[in-house]
Amino acid sequence: MLNGKTALVTGGSRGIGAAVVKKLASLGADIALVYAGNEAAASAVANQVMEQHGVTVRCYQCNVADYAAVKETVAAVKKDFGTVNILVNNAGITKDGLIAMMSEQSFDDVISVNLKGTFNMIRHCTPLFVRNKGGAIVNISSVSGIMGNAGQANYSASKAGVIGLTKSTARELAPRNVRCNAVAPGFIATDMTAALTDSPLAGSIPLGRMGKPEEVAEAVAFLACSEYITGEVIRVDGGIAI
Ligand code: NAI
Repeated sequence: MLNGKTALVTGGSRGIGAAVVKKLASLGADIALVYAGNEAAASAVANQVMEQHGVTVRCYQCNVADYAAVKETVAAVKKDFGTVNILVNNAGITKDGLIAMMSEQSFDDVISVNLKGTFNMIRHCTPLFVRNKGGAIVNISSVSGIMGNAGQANYSASKAGVIGLTKSTARELAPRNVRCNAVAPGFIATDMTAALTDSPLAGSIPLGRMGKPEEVAEAVAFLACSEYITGEVIRVDGGIAI
């Protein structure tokens, strides 16, 4: 379904991002894999995907919070692949803490990566989508951005912000045939939640288990491939936010 398309996936070296890289590649997309620091992990994912699916995967080290670095990275991807057709904003961090004790730095860092990083990528990929007369953006939000979560004021604010950004972008770019949607995962078993596996919260999931990265990737691929869905938020959360 995605033969001949190029997908840029941020935070693609592990967890949900790596699952998205694998899923989109399995549908035929070439991949620009953006990672923060672990080059070995990014290369391992790239090599595995190229071997398994016969697509091209290139890795780009980039801090998505850095506007200028994102501009350079998107230019490099354009030079290597010609364009970007699908953008998946998955890179994200947590710096949890109770609001009464949360440092200014923790708040700023989480907003910078999760919200501004998503803006930075959309900002620099949009001229390519407009030139192509089409494109698909999928942003990874969180149920924390829908319901709120004690101890995650910074993270919830960033992820609620991603939903607002998604809806405004969807409205603004719809006339250009560019769609923008979000996926809001619940508790997914990755490095980010490794410490929470035994958390009582995990016991309050209606479907009775944590999700798998591949289950989030399915929703991302669905939204990337759909042609008449925009401004939507799909929860992949086992029912947490019902
Ligand atoms: P993870 O911690 O395993 O992976 C995050 C990825 O983002 C890593 O590859 C990391 O290198 C990259 N990254 C972090 N900061 C970056 C930066 N400044 N620039 C570029 N890349 C950066 O986390 P996981 O669980 O795979 O999360 C992926 C996304 O899903 C995040 O946006 C997260 O907030 C979201 N999410 C995860 C949930 C979960 O239960 N695991 C639940 C809801 C949302």
